[in-house]
Amino acid sequence: MTAIRIDGKVVAQRRREQCRVEASRVAQSIGRAPALAVVLVGDDPASHVYVRNKHRACAEAGVDTHDVRLPDSCSSRELRAAVERINEDDTIDGLLVQLPVPDAIDPAEVRGWIDPSKDVDGLHPENVGLLASGTPRFVPCTPAGCLELLREYDIPTAGREAVVIGRSLIVGRPMATLLSTKGVDATVTMGHSRSGNLKEICQRADILVVAAGQAEMVEPDWVKPGAAVIDVGIHRIADASRPRGSRLVGDVAPAVGEVAGHLTPVPGGVGPMTIAMLLQNTVEAAGRKA
Ligand code: GUN
Repeated sequence: MTAIRIDGKVVAQRRREQCRVEASRVAQSIGRAPALAVVLVGDDPASHVYVRNKHRACAEAGVDTHDVRLPDSCSSRELRAAVERINEDDTIDGLLVQLPVPDAIDPAEVRGWIDPSKDVDGLHPENVGLLASGTPRFVPCTPAGCLELLREYDIPTAGREAVVIGRSLIVGRPMATLLSTKGVDATVTMGHSRSGNLKEICQRADILVVAAGQAEMVEPDWVKPGAAVIDVGIHRIADASRPRGSRLVGDVAPAVGEVAGHLTPVPGGVGPMTIAMLLQNTVEAAGRKA
């Protein structure tokens, strides 16, 4: 690979250490550790791994966690009651409902139940609006982490062409918003599954953020030589040559590393940053009570 490998593990570890120092300062001022509740509905194996990693990172940073588990058969009403109990608990600063939720539950409704002042995912309509207005309260963790990686590697954004592939509320849309805000100042195009000419759209990017949800979709000839490529995807695919019989891949084919100027690996790129930014949002939520 000729591209500079953007090491999300190293950047995230530094940020987690800063969160640990800040969490201890906030704890002194509010008389308890910052606290995060994580609600997990059902038994999606990947979600269980992500939630375990979140709890572990919180413990290391001195952030308390509340682990709320509900069965796959849980009704909307039961989930809403669990969220409202956490909303009303003054000893909990941050709340997230791990996505995806089972099909019977509408994620748009769930976003609206969360107290916006505890919404560390930044998905409540009020927080989406605040970010769009340029006065964010909580920036969604994955796009916040992607922007941190660009900053840490001194990748210029002002006046550059940025392309975001994917239009989800949790990654694509807030990523496009962040890249176009004052101070970041990129010229942003958002592509998606219905764009039709994704390859051509990607080819014009100086900064390419891919959150398409399709394994190894972006090939080397989709990428402008020297571009910074941020791969948000993570997929487990079968590989008989590996001890587990599978391996993790992103939305970007590894050979893109021969063309790009910078590239995030999968795993070890964006994923660790999501957790670091979750810690940051939680400590900030607690700090606002000081
Ligand atoms: N599922 C995958 N990523 C995320 C995330 O950042 N937040 C939540 N709530 N669920 C997720």
